[in-house]
Amino acid sequence: MKKQDYLFSYEVYDSIADLNEQDAWLLNEAREVTAAAYAPYSNFNVGAVAKLSNGEIVAGTNQENASYPVGICAERVLLGSAASLYPNIPIDTIAISYDNTGGASSHPISPCGMCRQALVEYEERVKQPIRLILSGLDGKVFIIEKANALLPLSFGSVDLK
Ligand code: THU
Repeated sequence: MKKQDYLFSYEVYDSIADLNEQDAWLLNEAREVTAAAYAPYSNFNVGAVAKLSNGEIVAGTNQENASYPVGICAERVLLGSAASLYPNIPIDTIAISYDNTGGASSHPISPCGMCRQALVEYEERVKQPIRLILSGLDGKVFIIEKANALLPLSFGSVDLK
């Protein structure tokens, strides 16, 4: 038997004021786009904004449905748009924020399991890691260098070979 360790590190900033200009801009966009979420059931409005390697900016917000499982997270809305508008163009960075209307929004959230799976496949597909900037409407900011760090031992296309 051999024990394998998995090391996960990420950066923690006290606030948006500690980010470089580009990252701060992207996070601000994610905070603002939460207003475009359609989340009448959870009242948890998520906004995600990506900067692609060709300089284009693509946004996504969660889109819920009266038939609850039909709802889609902001991250997967974004990935679908990016892949459709700019096929095969890598995504450099995605900023993700949320407005928990009626609750606190001052700690970072990170993508759900299903979105992690989708992010990892995107990275594989375009052969470039996606940096993640995570923060609420205010408070601390986490930066993760690659989405696949959030999904160790992930299942992927290679497993189907
Ligand atoms: N949600 C996202 O859009 N992204 C996440 O990373 C976590 C959760 C959405 C799904 C649902 O519409 C609402 O937030 C509450 O779970």
